Amino acid sequence: MDPLLAWRKEFPILANTTYMISHSLGAMPRRTAEALEQFADTWGTRGIRAWEEGWWNMPVTVGDLIAPIIGAGKGEVVMQQNVSICQWIVASCFDWRGPRNKLVTDGLNFPSNDYIYHGLERQGARVCQVPSPDGMTLPLESLLAAIDEETRLVSVSHVAFRSSYVQDLAAITRRAHEAGAMVVADLYQSAGCIPVNVRELGVDFATGGSVKWLCGGPGAGYLYVRRDLWPTLEPAATGWQAHREPFSFQSGPIDFAPDAMRFLNGTPGVPSLYSARSGYEIINEVGVDAIRAKSLRQTQLLIDLADEARFLVRTCRQPERRGGVVILDVPNGEDVTKELARREVLVDYRPNAGIRIAPHFYTTNEEIEHTLQEIRDIASRPD
Ligand SMILES: Cc1ncc(COP(=O)(O)O)c(C=O)c1O
Repeated sequence: MDPLLAWRKEFPILANTTYMISHSLGAMPRRTAEALEQFADTWGTRGIRAWEEGWWNMPVTVGDLIAPIIGAGKGEVVMQQNVSICQWIVASCFDWRGPRNKLVTDGLNFPSNDYIYHGLERQGARVCQVPSPDGMTLPLESLLAAIDEETRLVSVSHVAFRSSYVQDLAAITRRAHEAGAMVVADLYQSAGCIPVNVRELGVDFATGGSVKWLCGGPGAGYLYVRRDLWPTLEPAATGWQAHREPFSFQSGPIDFAPDAMRFLNGTPGVPSLYSARSGYEIINEVGVDAIRAKSLRQTQLLIDLADEARFLVRTCRQPERRGGVVILDVPNGEDVTKELARREVLVDYRPNAGIRIAPHFYTTNEEIEHTLQEIRDIASRPD
């Protein structure tokens, strides 16, 4: 008996749907509806007092629920709207006009991050994208070789969104620091699915969001910045919540808060933070080690069933390089995905990759078998 299945009753959608898409939108916890009601009640009954009674500090207090999931300390994670904003804040900490103006980005990075980096070219940045030879993996050596004494920032996706390939953050961070560069790690596809410890890795910045493995819903991204760097970083992408004394409403240049609040900007998205909390609490209760152990077992089951059906598996088969998603390249993958949804089996499709299928801690083996059986059935139908 799998003890994690006890959590199924906390996720209403699992009663009627084969939910294999937590890499894209994690299932909503039942208690999230109560949390959103709490938001409305607080607004409705406490009015403006809600700010000083908790709302204003929510970017930090909610970040404290993310911290144990990524190995950060209390007060070291602040909530933002999404990863793109977090990346923009990180990039805005640097002067890109000097000789150390190279930004190395891995060829598996999420496009949004690269759009932001290319925007920095106007300020003098030189963007060096290390290409992936197959669109799915990236040889560590080629990434390490791109990092040199002119590199300011190395941006790497811990787990690639398209292929679920796990990159060696420790080796990349070591090389970057040797060269005097900093590392921003995108943990969106890893945190809550595979263990990650930002302090042990020594990464300088980490970004992520809540929509996927953390089951926290949209509008709640997070940013971690290494504590000893705080006094040296002054993001140009800022706002009044980052001020040492925001309610003194001083005009002129900002006087940054001494703590991680310095990486905030304007009024926080309070309802999103209410809705995000229950997912984080559950992931903390379940524990990422238990999630990873189950994920390795179930992704292997998926691969075995796909092999049996002679589907092309595009995920890395090496367990330590495989994240939580299995990608199957079946003919007409996009149409198969649509038909699966009609049959109440939710997965997604990415061009140049295939059908992405992800079990999470609440998934049964029977759901995996059912998903593969339905794909076999659809794929074998005459056109
Ligand atoms: C690895 C990764 N980074 C970034 C993003 C985009 O994040 P956001 O929409 O919060 O900016 C995604 C979304 O799918 C992702 O998978």
